[in-house]
Amino acid sequence: MLPACFLFEEVDKCLEHDVSGSFIRDRFVTEYIIYREMLRKAKIADAKGIYRLISFWAKKNKVLERPLNYIYENIRDFWICTQNRRIIGSCALHVIGWEDLAEIKSLVVDKRKHKKGIGKELVEACVKEAKSLGVKNIFVLTFVETFFRHLGFKKLSKNKLPHKIWSDCINCVYFPNCKEESLILNIGGRR
Ligand SMILES: CC(C)(COP(=O)(O)OP(=O)(O)OC[C@H]1O[C@@H](n2cnc3c(N)ncnc32)[C@H](O)[C@@H]1OP(=O)(O)O)[C@@H](O)C(=O)NCCC(=O)NCCS
Repeated sequence: MLPACFLFEEVDKCLEHDVSGSFIRDRFVTEYIIYREMLRKAKIADAKGIYRLISFWAKKNKVLERPLNYIYENIRDFWICTQNRRIIGSCALHVIGWEDLAEIKSLVVDKRKHKKGIGKELVEACVKEAKSLGVKNIFVLTFVETFFRHLGFKKLSKNKLPHKIWSDCINCVYFPNCKEESLILNIGGRR
């Protein structure tokens, strides 16, 4: 069994590592094991962890594969959830070259951590950020329509979205027979 001082040292290290983060949950369980989950913006050092998580789900055709260089180049888009410094969830908010629109991309949660509210927290962080940027609408292309409906997203015909967004689709295994649903969340009044 680990001494209690070890436990508090570990907590301090976590705090030091994620000073910019906000804590979403602290869980103290038996035998001095700490489960500390944090939600924060990604940093360069997180790129490989994000890449591994996305690749896992991309191999199962749940999300688009993202090369490591894409993640580095777009690191400012990413939010992550960590548990004891391990990345257990990520989600990106990408502003589209269009007046008031952003996209939720690469939402993935470690398969051992599903149904604990992590996916929801990640999307909500992106929505909050979008509001602060002045974005008015957020869309997503997804196979998990129900999940996004829970968060207030509404179905939208794909042809209402700007053509620019389809540039990603060429990399999709389902291209050109898209099986994803498009949903939108209005966060800033009428379009
Ligand atoms: C989709 C995913 C991100 C959800 O993450 P999660 O952390 O398990 O989701 P949460 O626990 O935050 O769930 C929030 C709500 O959505 C529901 N939900 C979760 N996964 C769902 C799914 N696959 N389908 C429908 N509803 C779902 C939950 O039951 C929960 O509802 P509640 O608030 O009434 O309890 C996760 O299943 C995942 O990583 N899937 C593989 C990759 C993927 O499909 N990504 C989506 C790309 S757009």
